[in-house]
Amino acid sequence: MSLKIAVFISGRGSNLNAIIQAISDKTLDAQIQCVVSNDPEAPGLLIAKQHGLPTFGLAHKGMKRREHEEKILEHLKQYEIDFVVLAGYMRLISPEFLQHFKDDGGFYRVINIHPSLLPSFPGVSGYEDAFNYGVKVSGVTVHLVDEELDRGTILAQVPFPRFPDDTLTTFSARGLSVEHALYPAVLQTIAKEGVKLTPKHKVEAKK
Ligand code: GRF
Repeated sequence: MSLKIAVFISGRGSNLNAIIQAISDKTLDAQIQCVVSNDPEAPGLLIAKQHGLPTFGLAHKGMKRREHEEKILEHLKQYEIDFVVLAGYMRLISPEFLQHFKDDGGFYRVINIHPSLLPSFPGVSGYEDAFNYGVKVSGVTVHLVDEELDRGTILAQVPFPRFPDDTLTTFSARGLSVEHALYPAVLQTIAKEGVKLTPKHKVEAKK
């Protein structure tokens, strides 16, 4: 099934670009219905426009979260959307928004990419936090979005090394290139097989 997606961005849009490229290379069977941003000046919107994709930029400043989301949802009504793909969208998604994408399989059809091996280093600066902590291995996580920040079910993780002479710039660039391969690959798995949930591991009480 070709996956109909809305991609949400806030900034440069390199993951959006990777998704666009994968679609054009036919390694990802998806259609981007709309690219949404909370920053009408986001460089990623230009990438979308250059590829002839519909965009919707709406600044969130001066608006309550619900009002901003309602306007986005109203705009998205005109499209059929299987999945909302967060790609560097720097806004929390409310539980009310998630309800609009509730799947019968017991999850929300909203997915995110995070620049660390979750549950380590959640939040807005995953690469920086991992680098400053001094990790020897970091990684990238693609996860379903739920009501808790960066805590949804993990769909895929790919590790990458930190080398002794790394700077934050070289470390982050290594991670970003992992992201660009991983996100389209996970979306393609969803397009082909849907979302397969495995039960989270139960922690056995110690005797
Ligand atoms: C990526 O590192 C992503 O993991 C994080 O925000 C960054 C977005 O980068 N959530 P880009 O806008 O896709 O270039």
